[in-house]
Amino acid sequence: MAAKIIDGAACGREIRAEVAAETARLAAEGTTPGLAVILVGADPASEVYVRSKTRACHEAGMHDRLIQLPGSVTQDELFGAIDGLNADPEIHGILVQLPLPPHIHPKAVLERVHPSKDVDGFHPLNVGRAFVGDPRGFVPATPAGIMELLRHERIETHGRHVVIVGRSLIVSKPLASLLMAPGPNATVTLTHRHTVDLAQHTRMADILVVAVGKPGLITADMVKPGAAVFDVGTTRVPDEKHAKGYVIKGDVDFDAVAEKAGWITPVPGGVGPMTIAMLLRNTVEAAMRVHHARTKGERRRMGV
Ligand code: GUN
Repeated sequence: MAAKIIDGAACGREIRAEVAAETARLAAEGTTPGLAVILVGADPASEVYVRSKTRACHEAGMHDRLIQLPGSVTQDELFGAIDGLNADPEIHGILVQLPLPPHIHPKAVLERVHPSKDVDGFHPLNVGRAFVGDPRGFVPATPAGIMELLRHERIETHGRHVVIVGRSLIVSKPLASLLMAPGPNATVTLTHRHTVDLAQHTRMADILVVAVGKPGLITADMVKPGAAVFDVGTTRVPDEKHAKGYVIKGDVDFDAVAEKAGWITPVPGGVGPMTIAMLLRNTVEAAMRVHHARTKGERRRMGV
């Protein structure tokens, strides 16, 4: 059986077109959505991600602002940059690219972003809101993108067993909470580096999500025939045959698993483009909330 290859790039383009239309509508009414991205240090992979995010913003008609700080920046200096963006009316979404240098506490930084501008959904208030199903929060972009791909491909989640490999705040924990919620109604198993006999769990998965960053971790013998496999891994593997000197590899042994699975996301071109699309959607949502609050206030002042 050959799996259907899920085209995240095409699905992401559809969402970005919707976001661009909504951006144009909001801009015509006086609120142009704006996203600011803070990059600390010069990690080459982070630089590429950040550039893709700001380029996508620009293409959607949003304000985009990139703030690059040296790896030696102090936590207080970084807080100062975040405070400035929290107070800036042109900016509706703020993203601090992770990972951060070791001398900076990521939890403190993520808490510094105002929850109403936290389009990453990493502030504890938004994490909690997502967990209890409160729509005022922002759902992190990568799990939101996987949920969108499941809907797009009409992959049944109700009563199905989802196994997630990895326990990150960026992907796995929020995805588990989205999938087990009323609506998707999945049964979720979350596994991590200390799980005994990982394959025993992955083989039971109707839907397998792998977000670890270990190329080739998931081999065909670890996958149930017909399963939907979502590969979130993006690791640079040195390869002299390529002009860049490396190739991007997912966590799944793609060719062998594609022979056995029912659906599979490629790397690149699967989950990655959805992450950017959902980040833009969150930014438009943040701008829309500000816009509605402002126009409601204006109408009240005018006594309409
Ligand atoms: N690093 C890897 N993925 C992400 C993400 O979704 N958001 C942020 N802020 N940093 C990341």
